[in-house]
Amino acid sequence: MFWDLAGQEPKLNQLFNEAMASDARLVTSVILKHCGGVFEGIESIIDVGGGTGTVAEAIAKAFPNIRCISFDLPHVVNGLVGSKNLSYIGGDMFEAIPKADALLLKSILHDRSDEECIKILKQCKEAIPSKDNGGKLIIIDMVVNVNKEENELLETQLLFDMLMMSLVTGRERNEKDWAKLFDDAGYTDYKITPILGFRSVIEVYP
Ligand SMILES: C[S@@+](CC[C@H](N)C(=O)[O-])C[C@H]1O[C@@H](n2cnc3c(N)ncnc32)[C@H](O)[C@@H]1O
Repeated sequence: MFWDLAGQEPKLNQLFNEAMASDARLVTSVILKHCGGVFEGIESIIDVGGGTGTVAEAIAKAFPNIRCISFDLPHVVNGLVGSKNLSYIGGDMFEAIPKADALLLKSILHDRSDEECIKILKQCKEAIPSKDNGGKLIIIDMVVNVNKEENELLETQLLFDMLMMSLVTGRERNEKDWAKLFDDAGYTDYKITPILGFRSVIEVYP
């Protein structure tokens, strides 16, 4: 598995983490500018599979009252130092995820098969409060063909679909696929905001 290999090969680990951090800088700047409302009312947030913490750090800076945690495999977060409202936790999202009001999953579920996604989504549900108490997931991933008639976006999404199928065990999903995953994992509702070109923000409620 790619993540096991990254744990054994420091050079690959570093290269991959830097590439993801670069993408995270771009995506986070768009979300904070156009989608800041998704963080309203949240007191704590965990970026699950948050890499070296680029997204959590930007949220911590933009919202000093939100406690932000970047949660990732120990070989990714070991030795990283946080700040007043930013910290790092090492662990395995298939085993247990620390508790928070909201969990962010950016580019996590498209790497994974439906079975793996359901396991992760169920672990996430254990970690957040009920919908009435403000619990939610904020997923940043592709929703295939959500931007109807934008052929170039669809072509990019299908290219990623092939990449995810050949490199890891994942795939890109359309709205129907996502809705089935959320339902199978026990969530009651979701809202898709296609704001990031070929990617979307999906808020999911327990
Ligand atoms: C595609 S990267 C996404 C990184 C970050 N969310 C972003 O978009 O910049 C997937 C991340 O999931 C982490 N990861 C993989 N398996 C994991 C596990 N079992 N538990 C926690 N994190 C995991 C990887 O180390 C990696 O940082």
